[in-house]
Amino acid sequence: MNSEKSRLAMRAARAVIPGGVNSPVRAFGSVGGDALFIDRAKGAYIYDIDGNKYVDYVGSWGPAIAGHAHPEVLEALGQVMQRGLTFGAPTEGETRLATEIRDLYPSMERVRLVSSGTEACMAALRVARAFTKRDKILKFTGCYHGHADMLLVKAGSGALTLGLPDSPGVTSAATQNTLVAPYNDLDAVKAVFAANPNEIAVIILEPIVGNAGFIKPLPGFLEGLRELCSSAGTLLLFDEVMTGCRVALGGMQALTGIKPDLTTLGKVIGGGLPLAAYGGRQDIMSMIAPEGPVYQAGTLSGNPLAVTTGLKTLEIISRPGAFAALAAQTAKLVSGLKAVMASRDIPFTADSEGGMFGFFFHPGPVASLEQAKGADTARFKKFFHAMLQRGIYLAPSAFEAGFVSMAHSDTDISRTLECAEEAVKES
Ligand SMILES: Cc1ncc(COP(=O)(O)O)c(C=O)c1O
Repeated sequence: MNSEKSRLAMRAARAVIPGGVNSPVRAFGSVGGDALFIDRAKGAYIYDIDGNKYVDYVGSWGPAIAGHAHPEVLEALGQVMQRGLTFGAPTEGETRLATEIRDLYPSMERVRLVSSGTEACMAALRVARAFTKRDKILKFTGCYHGHADMLLVKAGSGALTLGLPDSPGVTSAATQNTLVAPYNDLDAVKAVFAANPNEIAVIILEPIVGNAGFIKPLPGFLEGLRELCSSAGTLLLFDEVMTGCRVALGGMQALTGIKPDLTTLGKVIGGGLPLAAYGGRQDIMSMIAPEGPVYQAGTLSGNPLAVTTGLKTLEIISRPGAFAALAAQTAKLVSGLKAVMASRDIPFTADSEGGMFGFFFHPGPVASLEQAKGADTARFKKFFHAMLQRGIYLAPSAFEAGFVSMAHSDTDISRTLECAEEAVKES
């Protein structure tokens, strides 16, 4: 596959953008080689500037759930943009989207729209600290909640892939109130609580981890956290930026019936434009300015274009049968990959929920970042490149989740599995 134009484009980009990219994992740092420069995308496919076509399992890291450039989303966007791009004043669309979110996530009694998942998590933690009048927060190893200083401690995603769990520039003062425990280890969490009595404002976690590969909570883990928080006066924050409207329309909280006090959303709810949200119990959210004293603001928060693409995307994925079909397609991909690897006795573990999946070259089970680190990353790297050569675009890291869209057809899945068969012969 010719990638000369991408190679040259990367050289030009590096001269003006750090590492040539505007978000680290895009640079192919952990798999080697040059990143592809994308020209356009449609449905399940992306096309690079060399004219190569790929079945896309990154989906812009989650938002492209309805398929790229869905005609109805483009149509809605085209109409709304004629009326102006942004006003910095309230619009009715914001209320419609907030209401839609509250209907899908009843725990989010009040919703504030922001522009990125980072912002949503940062603001939700601020209000959690203000509400509880406590300073400490507890997060889990391998969970990523954006790049706010206090959260760049043992974080997943790019921070993990690049081996930079604690970024230079983050002061020890910024992280001194951030406690960390291993995911899926309730005893460790209890020990942290015992060592910090009445001091922990909030537990923040990905209810399925997507930033250390794909790791599900063990039975009882989320329930245990809920109980612990309720008895300790600590708030429970589900960061559903990735899992929201992705593992189910109502996220992991709908699947488990566990009600967090606060939730963050992003990715899918913006339908491909910058939009995220945080929300939760009304008594907590009423502390936010201008209703209360906790400050949080944004020039482009709830801008009409992102609200429109978000609303239209939610409408599309809420249609009868749409989500079940997505989940079935994703499960088909995962069981097919497992069969391919099993036929060659390759240690492999894979799983999915809704339209999100992940795999490790590891015999399994993988329930934590510590276990995920035992995966064969050299094999992943070869597999990744062998798939890319055949026109299958996977996340360029062994520690990222994958995403299927409603546009992925049976033919796309079959073709992917044929490519996997060939790729493992080669790698
Ligand atoms: C679970 C989770 N939280 C927060 C974020 C940060 O979102 P953003 O990249 O929009 O700032 C991400 C991004 O991947 C995420 O996966």
